[in-house]
Amino acid sequence: MANSKLNQTLGEFIIENQSSFKYTSGELSRLINSIRLAAKVVNHEVNKAGLVDIIGAAGDTNIQGEDQQKLDVYANDKFIQTMTKRNIVCGIASEEEDDFIAINSQDENNQNKYVVLIDPLDGSSNIDVNVSVGTIFSVFRRVTPVGTPVTIDDFLQKGNQQVAAGYVVYGTSTMLVYTTGDGVNGFTLNPAIGTFYLSHPDMQFPEDGKIYSVNEGNYIHFPLGIKNYIKYCQMEEGDRPYTSRYIGSLVSDFHRNMIKGGIYMYPKSSLASNGKLRLLYECNPMAFLAEQANGKASDGFNRIMEIEPTELHQRVPFICGSKNMVEKAEEFMRNAE
Ligand code: AHG
Ligand code: MN
Ligand code: MN
Repeated sequence: MANSKLNQTLGEFIIENQSSFKYTSGELSRLINSIRLAAKVVNHEVNKAGLVDIIGAAGDTNIQGEDQQKLDVYANDKFIQTMTKRNIVCGIASEEEDDFIAINSQDENNQNKYVVLIDPLDGSSNIDVNVSVGTIFSVFRRVTPVGTPVTIDDFLQKGNQQVAAGYVVYGTSTMLVYTTGDGVNGFTLNPAIGTFYLSHPDMQFPEDGKIYSVNEGNYIHFPLGIKNYIKYCQMEEGDRPYTSRYIGSLVSDFHRNMIKGGIYMYPKSSLASNGKLRLLYECNPMAFLAEQANGKASDGFNRIMEIEPTELHQRVPFICGSKNMVEKAEEFMRNAE
């Protein structure tokens, strides 16, 4: 993409690229627009997190008599409200909700075809310490007919059926990064005027990298293949040892690795037989972004996007990042079988 596009706003980009979407009803554009709006609202709140002692913590009542909410609950409400009130999608599933939410889906006038799955605040344990957090979203076309209630089948689709996915990272700068299956583009928020600008066109994982990101405190519980791969990362040979970087916010770790080249791992362990991360709210959208950016995402043996989901809050082991690094980790997994 030419550098002349670099001053383009997200709003302009969405309009200009509308016709390149696979389905061009404009609905997907409205959906991305609603995520853009909710991201700005949540960003504003996340930015105030450090003032918690001054304006009150979760569970308190603020000076206007409003209840203070935890930020993950706040983010969940804002994303759901934005998409529900504008009647943009026919269903939403969220990491913060036990079940999916149907939005007028049985109404025969409701022609909305998309469902959204969302992790409204990823890395929420980092809020208290002023470290980056994020929002992750995944979009599918419903498989049941319009005008009928959405069902669980609309949400339990394989990742390779996604039509869009992305994340917001509330970092030193706030960015919205997304794909509609035609590459990955990143937009940076100018907070002074509340506008996202195209700052990272056509993002690509370097094929090789020198960063590995894993919670090494769990090392003793990891499968042998992962233990051996970590040792390989630390070995002095060629361009190794690699650098270890682990923020504990998947969005931020992924974002850094996509720019610099690296691998993120949340393996299964003897404590958690499927790891920690959720297939539908975290792994599928990140896998779609990774593949669109020339990277790879695997559970150690299989492509994440080909896993058949069986339940909304399903967890899977997750290995994601620069192609050659993920393939190397898979080789170690196979050899340890
Ligand atoms: P969430 O805040 O949505 O529950 O997700 C946190 C996830 C992910 O962002 C992060 O990489 C991982 O949990 C960190 O887990 P550990 O603290 O076990 O390393
Ligand atoms: Mn998360
Ligand atoms: Mn979360």
